[in-house]
Amino acid sequence: MVRSTGFKKVKTTIFISGNGSNMKNLIKFSKIKNSPIEINLVLSSNKKANALNYLKKKKINFKIFDFKKKNKDEKKILDILKKKDTQLICLAGFMKILSRNFIKRFKGKILNIHPSLLPKYKGLNTHKRAIINKEKFSGCTVHIVNSKLDSGKIIMQKKVRINKNDDPESLSKKILKQEHLLYPKALIKLISRN
Ligand code: GAR
Repeated sequence: MVRSTGFKKVKTTIFISGNGSNMKNLIKFSKIKNSPIEINLVLSSNKKANALNYLKKKKINFKIFDFKKKNKDEKKILDILKKKDTQLICLAGFMKILSRNFIKRFKGKILNIHPSLLPKYKGLNTHKRAIINKEKFSGCTVHIVNSKLDSGKIIMQKKVRINKNDDPESLSKKILKQEHLLYPKALIKLISRN
C-alpha cells in the first residue's frame, strides 16, 4: 500500500530510459501545492537520455545505472532507495525489466505507464500492432508492477480513438498526450485510496 502520512508527500523515485516526457510531467505535477508526491530522485538506465539535461537544469538529483550487471545494479539501487527513503517508484518510459526480487522489495509500490489498453498489447511496438490489427481504439494504462510483464493490477486507463489515417507515430503522439493526463490522475487515485 502507498500511504501518505498526514500532509506529507509520498517520496517518489522516477525510473526512465529515454525522452522523459512523462518524467517531466510528473516533476511538474509534484510541484503543484496539493500534489500527493515529491520527487526525491530520478534513475536513468541510459546515460544519453535526453531527459538528463532537463534534470541538470532543474537541479534534480539523478543516478545512472545501465543494468548490464542487473543483480549488482539492483542491489546498489535498493541501497540508494533505502537511504533516500523512497516510498513509491514510478516507471516512466523505463525499458528494463526489474527482477522478481526487486519487485518483491517494493511490492505494490511500483507503478508503470504503458501505451496500450492492457491486457491488450503488452510489450513493445504497441501502436504498430494495434494499427495492423485494425483496432478502433488504443490508449494507455497505469498499473501496479508485478513479476509478469505489463500484467499487474490496473489503476486507470484512457481510451484513444485510432483514425484511418493514423500511423504509429501519430498514434504515439496522441496517446502520449493522454499519458500525461492519466499518470497524475492515477497517482491521486492510488494515494488517496490508502
Ligand atoms: C511512453 O509512451 C510510455 O508509455 C512508454 O514509453 C514512452 C516513453 O515516453 N513505455 C513503455 O513502452 C514501457 N513498456 P517518455 O520517455 O517521453 O515518457
